[in-house]
Amino acid sequence: MPHPHIHAAIARPRSPGGIPTGSILMRAAAALAVCLQAASAFAELPEPSDLIDQQHCMFCHTSDAPFLAPSFHQIAERYRDKPNASTMLEEKLRHGGKAHWGDMAMPLPEDRGGPLSAEDARTLVQWVLSQ
Ligand code: HEC
Repeated sequence: MPHPHIHAAIARPRSPGGIPTGSILMRAAAALAVCLQAASAFAELPEPSDLIDQQHCMFCHTSDAPFLAPSFHQIAERYRDKPNASTMLEEKLRHGGKAHWGDMAMPLPEDRGGPLSAEDARTLVQWVLSQ
């Protein structure tokens, strides 16, 4: 004798999107979000793209390959643990200074695309040092 009502009894309720709420997938996504949050404390800062474009930073620098200028990784390695480095670098980005990597100094903001505020210099240096 067939029992047609058994199937209805085992069918589980589904959320509108088709993925059952509380499913493995949903729980994995939640766990992943937590991991990403924890990791971001040590990861690169978000790229301040508008500033970088406006100042043409990537014209001479790349993030990991020395080209016309030291790479941002090299710069970060060199200065990351030096206490006053970021102040020095912000000052240098805004007003220039003597070369630390060779003979070629970095051009002044006026020659890169316009004046650079203290706040923008800080954003850029923090981003470089996070690489
Ligand atoms: C025209 C090429 C050029 C452009 C554009 C340029 N740089 Fe540089 N940058 C250099 C060179 C060359 C050096 C190495 C100079 C030196 O020895 O101090 C350098 C060095 C640096 C340093 C390390 C300075 C030091 O004292 O060690 C930082 C930080 C830096 N650049 C960030 C930037 C940022 C941020 C931008 C965009 C706002 C930028 N650069 C745009 C050529 C450039």
